[in-house]
Amino acid sequence: MEIKKTMAVYFSPTTHTRQLTLAVAKGVASVFGTQIHFKNWARPRMREQDAVFDRETLAVVGMPTYAGRLPNLIAPSISEHLKGNKTPAIALVTYGSRAYENSLAELVARLSKNGFIVVAAAAIPCAHSFADIGEGRPTRQDIVDAAVFGQKTGLNLAQVEYENQLKPVAVPGDPEAPYYTPLKPDGTPARFLKAKPVVDTVRCNGCGVCVRLCPMGSIAVNPLSGKAEIHGVCIKCQACLRGCLPVALAFKDPDFLAHKQMLESHYKAHQDAAYFPFVI
Ligand SMILES: Cc1cc2nc3c(=O)[nH]c(=O)nc-3n(C[C@H](O)[C@H](O)[C@H](O)COP(=O)(O)O)c2cc1C
Repeated sequence: MEIKKTMAVYFSPTTHTRQLTLAVAKGVASVFGTQIHFKNWARPRMREQDAVFDRETLAVVGMPTYAGRLPNLIAPSISEHLKGNKTPAIALVTYGSRAYENSLAELVARLSKNGFIVVAAAAIPCAHSFADIGEGRPTRQDIVDAAVFGQKTGLNLAQVEYENQLKPVAVPGDPEAPYYTPLKPDGTPARFLKAKPVVDTVRCNGCGVCVRLCPMGSIAVNPLSGKAEIHGVCIKCQACLRGCLPVALAFKDPDFLAHKQMLESHYKAHQDAAYFPFVI
């Protein structure tokens, strides 16, 4: 079959998912000579727009793992706004070198319910957004592997003559499973649902970079004080902390810090990416 358009859709507050989604999309596009279009779902307005794909488009959809599933405030946008029409898709999740558990299964299930035929999938370990594990990933080799995976998927798609040769890929996990409960080093639950970064008003220069980076639109610069204020929901994605050059933002919530400590003492080991290829 001929693919006329490659579409990359990703939510990627700290850029790992974006890098890998684009690498897979480039691999596919190299086979069909298509341009890559992309939708950056870190922008709240982007997530509210319907995106409807035909069967000559290949969609590469990348999401990070949060608590063993897809981020719970982002995932509903997939079901509400991403629509396929027997559109072939590649599902990709990244995770912070702890475990991806059910996130890939959830992504595949949500896309499949919405008219996509998910022909291939991958779960790729990366640096953790807020814990020092998996540092340096994705490496150059991770990016090359992702591109080669995209290319192989494209080559197999090019050989498909009849639509019924597009078979949904099987991935491990349960799309309805409960979220992972974050733990403290002593094994008790860490409760930090309401934790938000604290603004150091001496360091904050009111530049507004965090305002633009927050995927929830939850930060504003107070016109009177000239300092950033976090007024809305925080998903702990770390985009604002990464972008803050004066280092004026930090999480100080004791349970959040205890969970970070637990992750760093339990999950150092290198993990291999899991690829679920499209076979015809
Ligand atoms: C709130 C939150 C929860 C997370 N939960 C998990 C998890 O359950 N397992 C895991 O291995 N990594 C977890 N991570 C780490 C991210 O999945 C990982 O760093 C991912 O690559 C981030 O993607 P991004 O760079 O595209 O934002 C979590 C990160 C955040 C912010």
